[in-house]
Amino acid sequence: MIIDHIGIAVKSLENAAVKYHAGMGLKIEKPTIIKEHKVRMVMLPIGESKIELLEPTEKSSPISKFLDKRGEGVHHICFRVENIEKKIKALKKVGLEVLEEVSKSGYKGQKVVFLHPKSTNGVLIELVEEGIS
Ligand code: CO
Repeated sequence: MIIDHIGIAVKSLENAAVKYHAGMGLKIEKPTIIKEHKVRMVMLPIGESKIELLEPTEKSSPISKFLDKRGEGVHHICFRVENIEKKIKALKKVGLEVLEEVSKSGYKGQKVVFLHPKSTNGVLIELVEEGIS
C-alpha cells in the first residue's frame, strides 16, 4: 500500500499549478473535470505518488464548502489499496465509517471511497483501488 496522492483544495487551479509545476518543478498532467465530485482537478506526479489540486466547479461542490470553512489547504490523503471492498471490511471491523458507496468516480474512472474524518482522527481519507493509474 502506498500514498496514491495528497489532495489540496485551491481557489484557482491555474494559480496553484504555477507554484507546484513551475515553482516546485513537478510534472503536470492534463486538468480533468470530475462531475460526480463537482471539481476540476490536476495531478502532479512526485515519485510513486501525486499531488492532486482540486478546484470547485460550483458552489455546491464539497471543495467549495471546504474552502468557505477552512480556506485553501490539504483536503485529503489517498491510500492506494489492492482490493477496496476487502479493505473496507477490515476498516469497518475497527469502527471506521465509510462516507458513501464505492464508486468509479476517481481519476480516470478508478474505484474510490471516502472515510468519515470523524472516524479517522479528523483527516478525510480516500481509498483508491490499484489498477489504472
Ligand atoms: Co483524491
